[in-house]
Amino acid sequence: ARRVVVTGSASGIGRAAADMLRARGDRVVGVDLKEAEVCADLSAPEGRRAALEALTALFGDGLDAVVACAGIAAPVPEAVGVNYFGVTELLTGLRPLLARGTDPRAVTVGSITVTQPFDAELVEACLAGDEPSALRLAQEAAGRGEQRRIYPSSKNALVRWVRRTCVAPGWADAGIPLNAVGPGTVRTPMTDWIFADPEMKAVMDAAVPMPLNGYASPEAVAKALLWLADPDNTHVTGQLVYVDGGAEAVLRGDAA
Ligand code: NAI
Repeated sequence: ARRVVVTGSASGIGRAAADMLRARGDRVVGVDLKEAEVCADLSAPEGRRAALEALTALFGDGLDAVVACAGIAAPVPEAVGVNYFGVTELLTGLRPLLARGTDPRAVTVGSITVTQPFDAELVEACLAGDEPSALRLAQEAAGRGEQRRIYPSSKNALVRWVRRTCVAPGWADAGIPLNAVGPGTVRTPMTDWIFADPEMKAVMDAAVPMPLNGYASPEAVAKALLWLADPDNTHVTGQLVYVDGGAEAVLRGDAA
């Protein structure tokens, strides 16, 4: 049985991942706002600190995998707090526990939206670890009517952080792969409101074409997360693995 932390475990992709891991006998500790073993608000530094304290108390002798799914899609500055800092600070804080684990692995959730327009300054502030500036830039983007760039920016920064960090000291050289999956449109509570609005659904379908099997289930994405977090994954690191029904191939055409 592996010792696994799953964030966003109360809903959608995180819940599917936690259920699948538990079904095979792993010891899963979920982190979420509510309905989880560790209840914490990952949008803010205090919540992340509290979560790390609780997880360190539980897994001080070693942690085998982290599956970081918590995220929000709302076009608000808070998305930067949850989707970027909530993931990167948690993974950074859990790395020493992973280093004491067996076949340790870490994986998170990017998005097909990294192919969409983003705010370059906001991405740089994230990568610099400057949360106050990142939140201010997100607020300013919203003020200019560019709030739709906040979520893609948070995911863009996250995926770039994964690429940088996977080969930084303490990760690859400690035998810890670090990856992300890039879902297209997934049927979860996050996207329910879009499906409820025919106009929004048409916008989304145009933005994220999925010729292979249409919208994904949360389980389809969770299976990819679980493989990346499994001991079977010995050599994949720093990758954004699209689980998107072909959307990225349609949108980016001939790019290698
Ligand atoms: P969901 O809304 O069903 O689940 C997200 C979970 O994260 C919820 O349980 C929520 O309470 C938790 N969460 C949100 N804010 C939090 C906070 N401040 N602290 C702690 N937990 C918090 O969403 P879904 O669809 O399962 O999304 C999971 C991940 O997949 C997210 O990172 C999302 O950005 C990403 N994603 C989802 C897609 C979709 O179409 N549903 C597409 C691409 C990426």
